[in-house]
Amino acid sequence: MSTPTWEAAADLVVVGTGVAGLTAALDAAEAGLRVVVVTKDAAEEGSTRWAQGGVAVVLGDIPGDTLDAHIADTLAAGGGLNDEAAVATIIRGGPAAVRRLRERGALFDARGSRLERTREGGHSAFRVVHAGGDATGAEIERALVAAARGLALLTGHLAVDAVRDTSGRVAGLAVLDDEGRPGLLRAPAVLLASGGYGQLYASTTNPGTSTGDGVALALRAGATAADLEFVQFHPTVLYTGPAVGRRPLVTEAVRGEGAVLRDRTGTRFMVGIHPLADLAPRDVVAAAITRRMAETGADCMFLDATALDGFAERFPTVFASCREAGIDPRREPIPVTPAAHYACGGIVADVDGRTSVPGLYAAGEVARTGLHGANRLASNSLLEGLVVAERAVRAIAADLAVPRSAPSGLIVPAPAVAVADRGIVQRAMSVFAGIGRDAAGLAAASDVVEAATRLATPIDRAGVEDAALTLLAQAVLAAAGTRRETRGCHVRTDFPERDDVWQRSSLAVALDECGRPVVTADLLAGVA
Ligand code: SIN
Repeated sequence: MSTPTWEAAADLVVVGTGVAGLTAALDAAEAGLRVVVVTKDAAEEGSTRWAQGGVAVVLGDIPGDTLDAHIADTLAAGGGLNDEAAVATIIRGGPAAVRRLRERGALFDARGSRLERTREGGHSAFRVVHAGGDATGAEIERALVAAARGLALLTGHLAVDAVRDTSGRVAGLAVLDDEGRPGLLRAPAVLLASGGYGQLYASTTNPGTSTGDGVALALRAGATAADLEFVQFHPTVLYTGPAVGRRPLVTEAVRGEGAVLRDRTGTRFMVGIHPLADLAPRDVVAAAITRRMAETGADCMFLDATALDGFAERFPTVFASCREAGIDPRREPIPVTPAAHYACGGIVADVDGRTSVPGLYAAGEVARTGLHGANRLASNSLLEGLVVAERAVRAIAADLAVPRSAPSGLIVPAPAVAVADRGIVQRAMSVFAGIGRDAAGLAAASDVVEAATRLATPIDRAGVEDAALTLLAQAVLAAAGTRRETRGCHVRTDFPERDDVWQRSSLAVALDECGRPVVTADLLAGVA
């Protein structure tokens, strides 16, 4: 990055204004830290506002449901790769975190004083709290943005690189401001809460902001990422013909309330595939839809919600998307197809948000805490963002209280990075690295990305995002090529079975000396 034309200083810089970023910023301000929040768009533009289903949490008022059952469901969905201690900590932290979110003004759907619940894939109980029917993320975002009024919030500011001192400790963040001018935010702590990388694929539920900037920035700063091959595809986005970009989500809660999947002959195809049938974990449903589409040569499957009462009132967001596409879900099945939805992997961080780089923290989708394993349980993501953000702020405050010497000699990663055309990357990832991958396809995708890549110094948002997507494509392909088995969201057609050899293997990725992502270690087994 070029020489900064302006500087500012803080105790903590938070990158991102979704559920994790704003929760952390509010907590940090309450803890007396000088906090600056940067986001590359308007505050509301991240992934959080698009979340529909809700927040999975056990509040103790549903007979028979327990925290242990929520933990067990999370582990069952995660395919044996979850970090069990992280799962327990985050799930058990949920009730208090949701209480604080409500105190900050988020209004969940309720009958009298009792919150309503829905159910989603993989959950053994109705435990998902929701808002505005299917507008949970939008309500959380509204409440947090309102609560954050008065905080130092730099919209239109793009995080480019972590700046470290000669000891390797984070000393600040290089940014491009809303006029494209390079600036330096000096701070001993940077918390990444910048979301995932759904834009790696041509069709995704994610907004245009989800370009993996945070994971790329952390890798360039020397952090480790893991579980990158586990890109979760949501089973049901509204299908309106071939299209690219963000696609309208049809929340799993529609199935939770009784809708069923059918093929174009009207046959229910989830029965017999999994004991929970249409409410199987998301990876199982997405893979089954993909298989059925291939078997029948269809472009989509159908979600039949015609037997549900009050669809328009219960699912206003989905209803509006359907009506816009000329579909009336009260009378006809909704055409659906899977699309890239959530990064189960990310920067390796503990449940307190600490990464391997001193001073660099991560929370929310950008982080891999071990909660999700090979496949995230529905509606555990907003929960993770809330819990880990709060814990990270406590960790940051504790870390900053330890005396340290003033940073000397700032180091910024090399300005020239690999950049490929975004459309080429998205097409290659969609064709070769979606649901159903094999060695030949993954190698072909790598070749396509390689051929499209050149070294460049990004000078604007598009360049920084393209560089992040290029790095993420290389990293996901490296991890997906290494894992020669099928597990969770990672479906290998050439290795279609789960293989116990990989039972405790969480693949870590870091950059080599040339800045290329390589699989460096088996994180859980500790084997290089
Ligand atoms: C959904 O509402 O189906 C998505 C919820 C989630 O991704 O957790």
